[in-house]
Amino acid sequence: MTDHATGAPHLRPGAHLLVTGGAGFIGSAFVRDMLARRDGTRITVLDKLTYAGSESNLAAVATDPEQADRYRFVRGDIGDAELVGPLVAAADAVVNFAAESHVDRSILDPEAFLRTGVIGVHVLLEAVRREAGRAAAGERETAPRYLQVSTDEVYGTVPDGHSVETDGLAPRSPYAAAKAAGELLVRSYCITYGTDAVVTRGANTYGPFQHPEKLIPLFITNAIDDEPLPLYGDGMQRRDWLFVADHAGAIEHVLRHGVAGEVYNIPGELEVPNREVVGRLLDALGKPWSLVRTVEDRPGHDRRYAMDGSKLTALGWRNRISFDDGIAATVDWFRSNEAWWRSAKSGDWDAYYARQYGTRLATSTEA
Ligand code: NAD
Ligand code: DAU
Repeated sequence: MTDHATGAPHLRPGAHLLVTGGAGFIGSAFVRDMLARRDGTRITVLDKLTYAGSESNLAAVATDPEQADRYRFVRGDIGDAELVGPLVAAADAVVNFAAESHVDRSILDPEAFLRTGVIGVHVLLEAVRREAGRAAAGERETAPRYLQVSTDEVYGTVPDGHSVETDGLAPRSPYAAAKAAGELLVRSYCITYGTDAVVTRGANTYGPFQHPEKLIPLFITNAIDDEPLPLYGDGMQRRDWLFVADHAGAIEHVLRHGVAGEVYNIPGELEVPNREVVGRLLDALGKPWSLVRTVEDRPGHDRRYAMDGSKLTALGWRNRISFDDGIAATVDWFRSNEAWWRSAKSGDWDAYYARQYGTRLATSTEA
C-alpha cells in the first residue's frame, strides 16, 4: 500500500520516530511491537510519566540489547517547547499518544486534560511546522509526518448507526472536548500550513498494561481481590472493544499509508453493553456476579459509541484479535502480573478511589 500522491509509503526503512506518551498503555504497545520487529526502526519516547505512565511498560525493549540500541527514553512534557523542538528536529515522524486519558478524572479535574490535549498538541504541531519549513529550505530531507491519536469519543454518544469520519464532532466530557480540540488544531495545521498529518479515532481499547482505573482492568483486579465492582447506572451503556495490539497496529498502518489531512476510524471487534463485558470477565475469573454493585452513574455518560471502519479497511488494515481471545489474554496477563497492577494501584490511588467511588459504593445497590 502506498501514498496515493507520491506512490511511496510514508516511512523510510530505519526511520526515527518520536513517540510521545509512549510509556502509557497503547503507546508502549506500539513501541514494543515496532521495535520487536527488528527492522532498524529507531524510537525516542517522550513521556511525562504521570500516574498513568511507567518506564516498566518498556522493560522488554530496554533489556533487549538489540532493541535498546534503537531506543531512547526522555522524561518530559509535550508542552515544553524547548525540550520538544530538538526531539522533533531529529525525527522522521511524530506519533502523539500523550494525553490524560480517563473520562472520570476529567470530570473531577479537567485542567490537565486541556494542558496536554490542547496546548501540548499545539507545541508539537509548531515544532513539526518549523521542521517542514527547514525541509522546504533544503535543510533536512523531508518534513516530519505527524500522527494524532484521537478517540471515538469526539463523536459523542451515537444512539444508532455508525459514525463516519465526516460526521460532526459532539464531545460530551472534558476529556472528549480536549481530544476534539487537539484534532481540530491538527486539521487547521493541515489546511493552513500544509502540515503532513493524519488523525486516528480509536475505539475502547483493552489489554495488558492498561491502568487499573479503566473498566476492564479495574473489574479484573477488584474481582481477583473479591472487592466490589462499581457498575455505573443501569450498565447498559455500549462500547466497541478493540484489543491493544490491533489498535497499535492500525496506528502504525495509518502512519505508513494514511493520506495527509485525513482522519481514520479504528473500530473494535465487538459492540456490547457493559453488563455483558462484566459477565464475561467474571466467567473467565470464576468469580460470582454478587461482586457487582450498581452505583451512581457518571455525569454526562455517553450511552453508546460505534464507528464505521470502511475507510481504514480500504486502506488495507484488518483487526486480528477477536473479543473472546483478547479478553482471555487480558485476564491471563493480569493474573500473572500482580506486581505490576498492585504498583499502579499505589501512590495516589487510594485517594482517587475514595473520591471517585467512596460515596458511590456506600450508596450502592444490588446489580
Ligand atoms: P494512558 O493514560 O495509559 O497513557 C498516556 C501516557 O501519556 C502516559 O504514559 C502519560 O505519562 C503520558 N503523558 C500524559 N501527559 C503527558 C504530557 N503532557 N507530556 C508527555 N507525556 C504525557 O493512555 P492510553 O489509554 O494509552 O491512551 C493513549 C492515547 O490514545 C490517548 O491520546 C488517548 O486519548 C487515546 N485513546 C485511548 C483509548 C483507550 O481506550 N484507552 C481509545 C482511543 C484513543
Ligand atoms: O472510546 C474510547 C475511549 O475509551 C478512550 O478515548 C478513553 O481514553 C478510554 O478511557 C475509554 O473511555 P470510556 O469512558 O469508555 O472507558 P472506561 O473504561 O472508563 O469505561 C468504560 C465503560 O464502563 C463506560 O461506559 C463507563 C463504565 N464504567 C467505567 C468504570 C471505570 C463503569 O461502569 N464503572 C467503572 O468503574
